[in-house]
Amino acid sequence: MIAPVEIAGISTTLPKRAVTNFEIEKLVDTTDEWITKRTGISTRRIASKEETALDMAADVAKKALEQSGVKKEDIGLIVSSTICSEYVTPAMASHVQKAFDIDCAAMDISAGCTGFVYALITAASLMDSLSIDAALVVASEKLSDYTDWEDRSTCVLFGDGAGAVVLKRSDTACMSYPVLGGSPDHEDVLICKREKRQTPFSGAVRVKKEYIHMKGREVFTYAVGAFEHTLKKLLKMCGDKPYTKIIPHQANEKIIDYVMRKTDFGKEQFFMNIKEYANTSSATIPIAMYDAYKEGWLKKGDRLALVGFGAGLTCGGVVIDWTL
Ligand code: UT7
Repeated sequence: MIAPVEIAGISTTLPKRAVTNFEIEKLVDTTDEWITKRTGISTRRIASKEETALDMAADVAKKALEQSGVKKEDIGLIVSSTICSEYVTPAMASHVQKAFDIDCAAMDISAGCTGFVYALITAASLMDSLSIDAALVVASEKLSDYTDWEDRSTCVLFGDGAGAVVLKRSDTACMSYPVLGGSPDHEDVLICKREKRQTPFSGAVRVKKEYIHMKGREVFTYAVGAFEHTLKKLLKMCGDKPYTKIIPHQANEKIIDYVMRKTDFGKEQFFMNIKEYANTSSATIPIAMYDAYKEGWLKKGDRLALVGFGAGLTCGGVVIDWTL
């Protein structure tokens, strides 16, 4: 069971530095035309060495909390999603907790680009089982640290950024139909390993993260299948009150176009901001939700489907009745 909750606050934190495709042209054998045509990406935000994933997480959580009007002392749970934390332990959520100086439960989720959807559903489920009235869900990613800037097949795709929401217990259930799933990644189509280092006793241990490796075509095939399947499943669950708007993980405009053609949805029903921010892994969905709300695309009363897919291979979705 998930608790009856609403999104009471939302915010984003994005590094100031916008890197254009033309700047990437100077690093690897690529063109603005190729990147735009194959992905829809024009720019991405890249954090400086001083801007860490943890800093972005604390900053975005603070802004979302301010917007929600919820007092920090009333937060009973923080769930963060990241693949980029500077620490193995403690969790990114514990850093956010430290920044707020509050006592509450805190934990991280690692579910690739589906991480925010997993975190949202985990938070709402724990709010039910632990009788918590308010929770923070944060996604913060600094993918530029794990990007091989000499590999044209991946470095054009990723960006840095963070998004957060405050969940508050409500009289009616504004978050419904949680769906989480995944398939084994037998071929290692999307991975980022830790580098091995020798120790005197146990041989090799993994201590440092290597670069992100992706077999683009294979991930594309998984992504479109998982996306379409999740959309259809959510639609069936909604019955006679279907969602009318969709915010998917922003991995590639082509993925969204492909799924749009395979379903009865129109282009205007999908929100996209990949052009500006590229793929920020689990942060794309809250960043897109915030932009959709700020731009007036997302309005009070809208029924919205969130759909994520990514490394694992994972996928997931949930339906939100927008109350802000
Ligand atoms: O967020 C997690 C989930 N991630 C995704 O969902 C990503 C899914 N995959 C994709 O979005 C696409 O597969 C990519 C955007 C990664 C790649 O696009 P593609 O249309 O599938 O290209 P491709 O990998 O099949 O490569 C086509 C050609 C190749 O050249 P040849 O072998 O045909 O001569 C590549 O070497 O394009 C070449 N290529 C590039 N050319 C210029 C690959 N990257 C680049 C590049 N610039 N940046």
